[in-house]
Amino acid sequence: MSTDLKSPVVLRAMTCDDLADAIELSLEQAWPHRAEDWELFLELGEGLVATLDDKVVGTIMAWRFGSDYATIGMVIVTNKIQGQGIGRKLMQAMLERLDGLNVVLNATAEGLPLYAKLGFEAYGEVRQHQGPAPTMPLADLMPGERVRPIGRSDADLPALWSRASGMDRSNMFNALWQGNKGVVLSRDHEPVGFALLRRFGRGTSIAPIVAPDLAGAKTLICHWLSARAGKFCRIDVVEGLGLSKWLEAEGLPCVGTVTTMVRGKPPVQQEGPQVFALAAQALG
Ligand SMILES: CC(C)(COP(=O)(O)OP(=O)(O)OC[C@H]1O[C@@H](n2cnc3c(N)ncnc32)[C@H](O)[C@@H]1OP(=O)(O)O)[C@@H](O)C(=O)NCCC(=O)NCCS
Repeated sequence: MSTDLKSPVVLRAMTCDDLADAIELSLEQAWPHRAEDWELFLELGEGLVATLDDKVVGTIMAWRFGSDYATIGMVIVTNKIQGQGIGRKLMQAMLERLDGLNVVLNATAEGLPLYAKLGFEAYGEVRQHQGPAPTMPLADLMPGERVRPIGRSDADLPALWSRASGMDRSNMFNALWQGNKGVVLSRDHEPVGFALLRRFGRGTSIAPIVAPDLAGAKTLICHWLSARAGKFCRIDVVEGLGLSKWLEAEGLPCVGTVTTMVRGKPPVQQEGPQVFALAAQALG
């Protein structure tokens, strides 16, 4: 039910002090983000809050990738005052900050009409798979193929991810890897893909997954799922590359989808490895 606004809504920059309120908003939406997830998002990007009588009632965040792209996420307005223009205000203020950049986001069904009105166009879909990790054997490796832990000398992985996603990921890779685990897929000693296992929400996410082909992506996933059997695991799968159907059959079900939209030019991925799973729906 919607309550009429009696005071003006004021927007301001998000700070660490707002995160306790922000968590309340995401919990209200049954989103799984922990304090650490919000903190990491703010450390990597920027945010705005909408306040009403000094109380945080809405949030929006953005992350910049090089000089041409940004993603927007964590767009939330508290339930009882939705539908009164606060979401639009937050979006317009953030888009002003990101002026000149192509902006990508993953839209829920609730957010999609607003984004479409602001000029975003759909160009993809992400399928959220999650649940207790099914028991899986390790994948059979091809001759010359190896899965090994990421090491300090793996300096090429941020560039691999950037080429695969069409956005400059160099600053984000280390922040996501730090304190988490990651494996590299190599073929004939060349790194051709990687997958991070990160603490996120209700358990761990395999996020992102970058691989040269479907077989490579499955190999990376088998590695992590077999290590996590029975424990809660999430993968935000880019639709259209064959993973979603396979995960469903293996016992990690799809629990929802979001629509990938862009305002400006969709990112152009270069020849070679592809992003099979996102770092997070918000980060792309
Ligand atoms: C999505 C969300 C942030 C929108 O915030 P809001 O304050 O309710 O949105 P607004 O009142 O600014 O409405 C935005 C526009 O979308 C339109 N709209 C909303 N739902 C619509 C629908 N089902 N069909 C058509 N238009 C719709 C509104 O009419 C409005 O258009 P207008 O500005 O031209 O009048 C809010 O609904 C929310 O927090 N939802 C839950 C969390 C979520 O899913 N967030 C999106 C993550 S991608």
